Amino acid sequence: MAAKDSSVSPASHVAIIMDGNGRWAKSRGKPRLYGHKMGARRVREVVEACPDHGVRYLTLYAFSTENWKRAPAEVAGLMALFRQFIRAEMADLVRDGVRVRFIGDRRPLNSKLRRLMGELEQATARNDTLHLTVALNYGARDELARAAARMAADVAAGEICADTVDADSLRPYLDTADLPDPDLVIRTSGETRISNFLLWQAAYSEFEFTPVYWPDFGRSELGSILENFGTRERRFGAVLT
Ligand code: FPP
Repeated sequence: MAAKDSSVSPASHVAIIMDGNGRWAKSRGKPRLYGHKMGARRVREVVEACPDHGVRYLTLYAFSTENWKRAPAEVAGLMALFRQFIRAEMADLVRDGVRVRFIGDRRPLNSKLRRLMGELEQATARNDTLHLTVALNYGARDELARAAARMAADVAAGEICADTVDADSLRPYLDTADLPDPDLVIRTSGETRISNFLLWQAAYSEFEFTPVYWPDFGRSELGSILENFGTRERRFGAVLT
């Protein structure tokens, strides 16, 4: 995959809530896990499409802190799918210049998966064509609580002064410390919620909600949304003259 200069879209960072795998599968009389498997194929397609549209950062919501409430077999199937995806895609991601990072709390994840996540991050650490961030056991409230706890520890240790804390002080404590805020958040499947995704980072993001289920979302759906995004005027709270 070659990085291309593109004037199609100024959305440098796109974040996606990949929703609708279960309903997509159900509408075909298939088990939910089949929907997740087909969803994983779309991850590959969308990753490959991003550089062609000038997208440098892609963040995908793969598993939320709330998703543990699903049936144990579905949770286990998703975890197995993440492991398979990393094993199957590692070489291509390295070759294609994709830098992969994971956000979320890794501690409750199985050690085999955690090891693979670390290996993929290391193997792609020098890549720069596309920065792919996978949110896995991620919840924004959990992220903010973990960030606040670490900041409080730094205050207690005398490393920062509570009086100087301002809106930007939290940024370095967030899981996304090294990433720009998303320009555009997309949610598939017709739901119009943010579901605990990037609550702090999406303060000024644009939102697109599409009825398409994630296993049907590919290169052309991404292209249309990015084209539409290019026509939006973003004011970041200011009045443009
Ligand atoms: C939401 O659809 C989707 C998920 C909870 C899982 C997302 C995972 C994938 C797309 C698989 C592969 C991902 C990676 C990064 C390899 P849902 O199950 O809530 O759908 P529903 O609302 O129709 O039930």
